[in-house]
Amino acid sequence: MNRKEFFKAMGAVAGAAAFGSRAKAACPAPCDCGTGGGAAGTLPGRVLGSGRAAMSVSTLGFGCMGLTYNRSQHPDKKQMSRLLARAVDCGVTLFDTAIVYGPLENELFVGEALAPYKGRINITTKFGHEIVDGKATGRQTSRPDVVRRYCEESLRRLRLDSIPLFYQHRFDRDTPIEDVAGCIADLIREGKVQRWGLCEVSADIIRRAHAVCPLTAIQSEYHLMHRLVEKNGVLDVCRELGIGFVPYSPINRGFLGGGINEYTQFDPANDNRQTLPRFQPEALRLNTRIVNVLQRFGRTRGMTSAQVALAWLLSKAPFVVPIPGTTKQAHLYENLHTLDFTLSAGDIAELERAVETIPVIGDRYDAEQQKRVLG
Ligand SMILES: NC(=O)c1ccc[n+]([C@@H]2O[C@H](COP(=O)([O-])OP(=O)(O)OC[C@H]3O[C@@H](n4cnc5c(N)ncnc54)[C@H](OP(=O)(O)O)[C@@H]3O)[C@@H](O)[C@H]2O)c1
Repeated sequence: MNRKEFFKAMGAVAGAAAFGSRAKAACPAPCDCGTGGGAAGTLPGRVLGSGRAAMSVSTLGFGCMGLTYNRSQHPDKKQMSRLLARAVDCGVTLFDTAIVYGPLENELFVGEALAPYKGRINITTKFGHEIVDGKATGRQTSRPDVVRRYCEESLRRLRLDSIPLFYQHRFDRDTPIEDVAGCIADLIREGKVQRWGLCEVSADIIRRAHAVCPLTAIQSEYHLMHRLVEKNGVLDVCRELGIGFVPYSPINRGFLGGGINEYTQFDPANDNRQTLPRFQPEALRLNTRIVNVLQRFGRTRGMTSAQVALAWLLSKAPFVVPIPGTTKQAHLYENLHTLDFTLSAGDIAELERAVETIPVIGDRYDAEQQKRVLG
């Protein structure tokens, strides 16, 4: 071996060591991301819920909200339809929307774009925010007659005969959860809904709801900058009762991806991040130290900070299925390639130790939005 070959071989060994946590690339295919591809439409899977409430899904889902709503500018509908088609081709089988996104527009768009894949994928949607004449009133309602009407309307917009998973989006303080669960049990018996879930509720509400009609999943905010569900008993009760957990905003609304800073301009007409204390310029400036930790951690492992954020969530429990949203094919591939990596217990401890030394600045919601979440 000459000197040049020797250094080339050493470089390869050093590279392999640095990227040691990377498993054989489970490339989502037919994917043109440049890593070779595998069998069409295959991704590892997980199961949300148990028994007759069980639902098999891809290990990562796709949050559809930002395709039309609350995440600033987005490409035209044709491009976004192509993006959803790529996600299906890659093997994603869980697509998340809600009546209030738009309102109504997101469901309409997702229903149209995913219609060709009916039977191959699951669309999940959410009721609970009151909508009058196409506008959100800011009030919550889960009255059984309203849930029933919203279910019929969602079915039409989504072009489905049955909703695979229907979540309550926000708790309704005027309607006991047992009444909501009873209504959903009726809709399941009638075949209009297959399964149900709750968002941002307490462990006690989960127990009461599950006792009437078994839950498939709880969807609440969870990521490295917001770990409430580890402390308020929600993750524990999911583990105990065999309920899945779907972390929303798993990249903290894009922040942990590293592309947002104190100078970022959010679209005033279509982005709720500008209303969030954690997304005010000074908070963004200070919280960037957390992104820097993820970037440093990822650099030695060949991972981006978004992949670190997603891999950390996936390591928390086998019943956790994050739903990152994106308007970009490159980010879709980047996010799915998180599945190439496994973090060891030592990696997780190192990452958490480093993140915990930095205080998170700013609340996740403003006072009004905070009133709508329990737990
Ligand atoms: N149940 C609830 O109350 C609730 C609340 C909020 C959201 N959700 C659900 O959760 C889904 C995701 O939430 P979210 O949109 O708030 O948060 P998120 O998935 O954490 O972040 C989405 C943002 O991250 C950016 N992004 C995605 N991948 C990236 C990457 N690899 N690198 C850098 N940036 C990246 C996207 O921008 P680009 O378009 O530029 O990629 C997008 O603006 C929603 O679509 C919705 O379905 C539910």
